[in-house]
Amino acid sequence: MKALVTYFSQTGNTEKLARAIYEAIHVEKELLPVQDVKDTKGYDIIFVGFPVHAHSVPAKLLPFFKGLTDGQNIAFFCTHGSLRGGHLAKQALEHAIGLAARAKILGTFGIRGKVDAKMIEALMKQAEHQAWAEEAQGACNHPDDDDLADGKAFARGVLAKVGR
Ligand SMILES: Cc1cc2nc3c(=O)[nH]c(=O)nc-3n(C[C@H](O)[C@H](O)[C@H](O)COP(=O)(O)O)c2cc1C
Repeated sequence: MKALVTYFSQTGNTEKLARAIYEAIHVEKELLPVQDVKDTKGYDIIFVGFPVHAHSVPAKLLPFFKGLTDGQNIAFFCTHGSLRGGHLAKQALEHAIGLAARAKILGTFGIRGKVDAKMIEALMKQAEHQAWAEEAQGACNHPDDDDLADGKAFARGVLAKVGR
């Protein structure tokens, strides 16, 4: 079995989670920033990670989605400032699932990731960002060790589903 863990990360939170997922899977594997992925063929499972940006998937991910083949096994992971398990984070994962409509989604996972305090202050003044930016004030210690341990458990669970 061959796995790819790929991610986009602007400030390092999603990269931390990507590295934890990569460590947790004990199969043939590669870890690549999404812009370095040349071909998505040949992997039994691709873990795709992104930071939630404006309730959705960052535009940097779009070329990757275009390259997906029918029936490709995918699992999404993301980091976000808003509350874990909350509707703001779920919305972004739903966008990702929509973009990967041709793929087979084996799981989704999200944890909180800190946001620069000055950025929160600025974004809270903008109506479209206010809700998540308010929640993000409490994300300053994330991702933490518990988050990353949960990410590892998620990855092992996904791997167990491959080939079923
Ligand atoms: C431009 C921008 C937009 C963001 N939009 C959201 C959002 O809509 N919802 C949310 O929960 N977090 C949002 N965040 C917070 C990031 O998702 C969070 O800090 C994430 O962990 C960053 O990951 P990274 O370090 O891998 O870039 C936003 C951050 C930035 C910089």
